Amino acid sequence: MLSKTMYAALNKHMNTELFSAYLYLNMAAAANEMGFKGGANWFTVQYQEEMVHFMKFYTYINSQGAQAVVDKMAKPASSFSNLLNFFEETLKHEQFITKCINDVTELAVKEKDHATQIFLQWFVTEQIEEEENDREIIGKLKMIGDNGYGQLMLDNELGTRVFVPPPAV
Ligand code: FEO
Repeated sequence: MLSKTMYAALNKHMNTELFSAYLYLNMAAAANEMGFKGGANWFTVQYQEEMVHFMKFYTYINSQGAQAVVDKMAKPASSFSNLLNFFEETLKHEQFITKCINDVTELAVKEKDHATQIFLQWFVTEQIEEEENDREIIGKLKMIGDNGYGQLMLDNELGTRVFVPPPAV
């Protein structure tokens, strides 16, 4: 069973994961429109991952005898200047998500809600990987700079990303 406070925090974060999915879907379309087909693929995979994150919260809340509620959300950004800008915005967003996950986890610790702590552990670990991936791509883009050939090669690399569904929690 979830306390009222724990439920509110989990449901709020579930909606933040859905916002993430919408943001990356916008990024995929923007990258495609700018000719970055590989980038479009990378963000489509990211969108799929975020939908899994969203559904993990949705399923967990419902499994605890509470009711997950999808809320109205802010309009995600849809305009980006170049590949570096896409990934700098992605890293910034993921750092925000890490903070949110840490805040919800702290609440679960404070409330001695062990089940929710165990549920959130997967997300704590996942955020390390999310930020690491973004930093790695940003590093490469900074090395490449304005070199068109380099950008093309990196875009090709982004095109090889495939969606691998994570194991159910
Ligand atoms: Fe679901 Fe990218 O955090």
